[in-house]
Amino acid sequence: MTSSCRILSVVNQKGGVGKTTTAVNLATAMAAVGKHVLVVDADPQGNASTGFGFARSERGAGCYELMFDGMSVEELARPTLVPNLSIITSSADLAGAEIQLVTTERRESRMKDALDRSAKDYDVIFIDCPPSLNLITLNALVASHGVMIPLQPEFYALEGVSSLLQTIEAVRERFNPTLDIQGVVLTMYDRRNSLSDAVSKDVRAYFGDKVYETVIPRNVRVSEAPSYGKPVLLYDLRCSGSRAYMQLASEVLRREMGLLGGGLSAEAAEA
Ligand SMILES: Nc1ncnc2c1ncn2[C@@H]1O[C@H](COP(=O)(O)OP(=O)(O)OP(=O)(O)O)[C@@H](O)[C@H]1O
Ligand SMILES: [Mg+2]
Repeated sequence: MTSSCRILSVVNQKGGVGKTTTAVNLATAMAAVGKHVLVVDADPQGNASTGFGFARSERGAGCYELMFDGMSVEELARPTLVPNLSIITSSADLAGAEIQLVTTERRESRMKDALDRSAKDYDVIFIDCPPSLNLITLNALVASHGVMIPLQPEFYALEGVSSLLQTIEAVRERFNPTLDIQGVVLTMYDRRNSLSDAVSKDVRAYFGDKVYETVIPRNVRVSEAPSYGKPVLLYDLRCSGSRAYMQLASEVLRREMGLLGGGLSAEAAEA
């Protein structure tokens, strides 16, 4: 792996908070500014795969084979509609992986071992995690440099966050000392709902400057895009959701640039 490849997991054990939407669209926005991007769909639900147009029947070998069958990133990565962006899809057998991992050797490091062997071709790898702090998510955290936490600003937004933070801390202590929270992104933000505003303030008070300035608005185009098998940036480039994900990408790149000592180009971060 080149030293400049950054692996980011998109994690929240709460379901439906915008993990997959963020992984798919942030990855697309980064590819659009010329980064070489890989998405790993580590969720047996396979929504990131569907979001890039890979229906269940068309998936073949994917994340399961990466973790268990010794297949390489090169063998498994498939090009998408988006230039510079490949995906390792979810695969049928991934649903059983959780149980299989329990008795597997190096059970928390399978994904790291696979990505370390052959991630050299990418600038950024996003791992879309399932809504659970299970062994697949643990594998993603062990493999990652940073964690992105999408939060939907609703009444229970911070519920469960402490177990997520404890998990991150445990991974840092036992397996991956440099694991960091890349950032927290507020998703499905509804400006007409005063609760969005109130909860966002709480989230900013709790996480401080880990929370990105960019918030992703609730936007119907974002939710329509997956049914066309496209990221929203391809479906409707000018809608508010697409613009927000482009802006988020530049914020993420700016943070990453700080970490890499200027390894990512300044134009890309400004684009
Ligand atoms: N900004 C947005 N505006 C409107 N709808 C959105 C937005 N972001 C996500 N959605 C919709 O909300 C639903 C949940 O989003 P998503 O699948 O990204 O969440 P998730 O956290 O990955 O869910 P899961 O936990 O099941 O994996 C989807 O139907 C998605 O299209
Ligand atoms: Mg998802």
